[in-house]
Amino acid sequence: MDTTVTRSGLDGVVVADTRLSEVDGERGRLVVAGHDIERLAGATAFEAVAGLLWSGALPQGEALEAVRRALAEGRVRAFAQLKAAELPRFADGMDALRAATARLTAEDGFDAPARLTGAVAVYAAAWARVRAGGRPLAPDPQLSHAADYLRMLTGEPADPARVAGLEAYLVTVADHGMNASTFAARVVTSTGSDAVSAIVAAIGALKGPLHGGAPGPVLDMLDAIGEPARAARWIEAELAAGRRIMGMGHRIYRVRDPRAAVLEGALARLEQAKPATGRLALARAVERAAEGALRAKYPDRPLAANVEFYTAVLLDAVGLDRAAFSPTFAAGRVAGWCAHVLEQRATGRLIRPASRYVGPAPNA
Ligand code: COA
Repeated sequence: MDTTVTRSGLDGVVVADTRLSEVDGERGRLVVAGHDIERLAGATAFEAVAGLLWSGALPQGEALEAVRRALAEGRVRAFAQLKAAELPRFADGMDALRAATARLTAEDGFDAPARLTGAVAVYAAAWARVRAGGRPLAPDPQLSHAADYLRMLTGEPADPARVAGLEAYLVTVADHGMNASTFAARVVTSTGSDAVSAIVAAIGALKGPLHGGAPGPVLDMLDAIGEPARAARWIEAELAAGRRIMGMGHRIYRVRDPRAAVLEGALARLEQAKPATGRLALARAVERAAEGALRAKYPDRPLAANVEFYTAVLLDAVGLDRAAFSPTFAAGRVAGWCAHVLEQRATGRLIRPASRYVGPAPNA
């Protein structure tokens, strides 16, 4: 039997030419439309990176202002479409985000990247507010996208240090090669369907713990470990029980995910501005323990920290509840999804792979 097919996760299969981002798994490098992620995160507004992905160049001056206005308008229009009364029935933020986004239509103007990106932020924040016992807050179009998202989500005036931490996060996760949710969006787009449908499919793919659902469990793990001295024994016990260590390993990276370092840096800056939670030191100890234990178990397969590891600690320090982590991932990644929708449309070719039939032979 050809096991390369039956175990296939399409490893190494190139399904598109893209100008949007390059993931170099051997060297641990992420380039977003011609810019190293280390240069963008912490130095560039989310609006600018969204504009970069959608137009191919970092917008400045009036062009940047136009992206800012379009995103603000997207938030305002999405809020007008929000059926807030339906949110409490969703225990899971990704379920709520998927359902709220699915109500939008291309006919109402939500085929446009800025509208969809605004909508995802508004719905993710609204669900978190409702879950915390509050009412969804209307967007403030005067604020930056990151600041408004944080304000709508927490109900508090946006604190500059926390906004900076969140913005670095949103920029860091905005695009990342042909990941599962991006591929889902491109498959839907390739059928000639609309952008809302593509983004709903992508949200569904991002929900899974092997993709965007890991950061909440990373924080659960840090809580369970409690202090650096307990890390090694806890990790060993998890591996012995056959469980995966969340936030470790990656399909593409053979070294530490460069986004882990970027987020670790953003967290260190936030801890300088705010009383330290102590979680950064704990996270570093757990990462070291996990890397060592995984190296011992899989000597031929380097498994290091991925983006989710420091996402958990950074978003916690920003003041987000862990239930809001995956929806916040979607709020950043939606910029990349929309860019891939545009790019896929330009190729115009249906994505339709083949399968190999291994079922019973037909009855004679
Ligand atoms: N903890 C324990 N074992 C792990 C592991 C982890 N985090 N990641 C991979 N492995 C194991 C696999 O089980 C596999 O073992 P096996 O051959 O005995 O089955 C081996 O390492 C090789 O796995 P690999 O081919 O590298 O995994 P993948 O490419 O299919 O999966 C992930 C990549 C990201 C899904 C995987 O590393 C994982 O589940 N990580 C934890 C979840 C996570 O952090 N997701 C966010 C990704 S950004």
